[in-house]
Amino acid sequence: GITRHYKFNIRMQNVTRLCQTKSIITVNGKFPGPRIIAREGDRLVIKVVNHVSNNITIHWHGIRQLRSGWADGPSYITQCPIQTGQSYVYNFTIIGQTGTLWYHAHVSWIRSTLYGPIVILPRRNTSYPFVKPYKEVPIIFGEWWNSDTQAVINQALQTGAGPNNSDAYTINGLPGPLYNNCASPMETFRLKVKPGKTYLLRLINAALNDELFFKIRNHTFTIVDADASYVKPFETDTIYITPGQTSNVLFKTKTLTSNAKFMMAARPYSTNAAGTFDNTTVAGVLEYMSDSMSSSSINASIKGLPLPTLPVINATSYVANWTNKFRSLGISQFPVNVPQTVQNRYYFAVGLGTDPCPKNQTCQGPINGTKFAASVNNISFTLPTTALLQARYFGKSNGVFTTDFPTTPLNPFNYTGTPPNNTMISHGTKVVVLPYNTTVELVMQGTSIFGFENHPLHLHGFNFYVVGQGTGNFNSATDPTSFNLVDPVERNTVGVPSGGWVAVRFRADNPGVWFMHCHIEIHLSWGLRMAWAVMDPNQKLPPPPSDLPQC
Ligand code: C2O
Repeated sequence: GITRHYKFNIRMQNVTRLCQTKSIITVNGKFPGPRIIAREGDRLVIKVVNHVSNNITIHWHGIRQLRSGWADGPSYITQCPIQTGQSYVYNFTIIGQTGTLWYHAHVSWIRSTLYGPIVILPRRNTSYPFVKPYKEVPIIFGEWWNSDTQAVINQALQTGAGPNNSDAYTINGLPGPLYNNCASPMETFRLKVKPGKTYLLRLINAALNDELFFKIRNHTFTIVDADASYVKPFETDTIYITPGQTSNVLFKTKTLTSNAKFMMAARPYSTNAAGTFDNTTVAGVLEYMSDSMSSSSINASIKGLPLPTLPVINATSYVANWTNKFRSLGISQFPVNVPQTVQNRYYFAVGLGTDPCPKNQTCQGPINGTKFAASVNNISFTLPTTALLQARYFGKSNGVFTTDFPTTPLNPFNYTGTPPNNTMISHGTKVVVLPYNTTVELVMQGTSIFGFENHPLHLHGFNFYVVGQGTGNFNSATDPTSFNLVDPVERNTVGVPSGGWVAVRFRADNPGVWFMHCHIEIHLSWGLRMAWAVMDPNQKLPPPPSDLPQC
């Protein structure tokens, strides 16, 4: 591979959406951020310079970071934030991954405007295990708030209530024409295609708080990849994608002769709104051929077009069947390395809960006198004030974290039926220590204490194999007999189903301290996060770079 250099100047930029102009945090003034392109095997050297008043870190979501944990990016886990006026060079090599990943800020809610695609092409002189696409197009879903997102999260944490809903979902930063009467016509995403060609769409869900359905009217997709791992191709007309997930899909256009147009739309799987199209739906348009329609007339012309029909809100069975469709490609160049035996077993209950309201504060949590919180095995993870990886590497973990993270829930209960009463949680900075190169099986049980929440759990530093999933309570005697140890999908983010469980396996072959959390940003903020520490005396990381930020 070669070395590719990028410079990310983090700076404020005025952006207008939904008739309002606001100053947002961007990479090089771009929203969404610029595309990173590399081939498998290349080294990326990305200098990030912080010109804004907020602390910044950037996470390269899904990049394995083999022995390069200092470049992973989650604040207070692998590094202290880059302070105003400071810079840090992220330096890492892409090993064994081809597909689409993405980058985003990993401090507070700054990722709401700071995100962009990472396109990883196959090594030179190698090709995709599918037909060569005519063109490749990144499609990034996001969320837009008219108000300042830092204020949204600060207010939610203060009152203990849920955060204000976003004002729009977006495709490549654009909210589309549906409800957005004063929006400029420029605010509609237009996918211009030629007839009879195969495109590769690189889908990324960068939305903060919602899993999404996506569809293009009268068209189908062939899924070929998930989280930069190839899967056995399958066809679908509707895509479901959780925050943090990526997927490459082939998109074959029709052999039309006219300048036809078709609507595309995305909307959340779970929402407070009734199951109708409303302002939680983002639409764009697929335009065939030489359509030279100007931006100023496009919104009017597509408003009358029929929308695709998306699954109903809270379509849990659709989502369960969807997840089951993914299988690793499993051909000799891309073998399946799922651990057949397990050395470390964990059972994590993941979900929401409550904290008592502090004295002399009024709280608006789900139960009177409480604040929303979230936990793994009843532990709501507290961010430390110095980076865990530094503390661990320099043997200074005393007072920073403890290694007593529970391997099973502190208060086991029935995860189905009437919401149980053990939502109270405790707080701590606890990690699980994993011996280097041992195998792990992790069953994650969704507690479903409040409503239909699903939890897209994201693991840094590894891909895991999704070996099983089911509804209701996990049964450790019977459920493992149906685990798929042949061709399970390999990914970095998996949805823990509402009132169900998912089982994953991975090998702890990457020394470092690795964050794992729900990629629904408000759940992350509430504490649905933990960390794994993988290191032994012989498998040391290289020392930190000299410009590693200090707290
Ligand atoms: Cu994409 Cu820790 O996150």
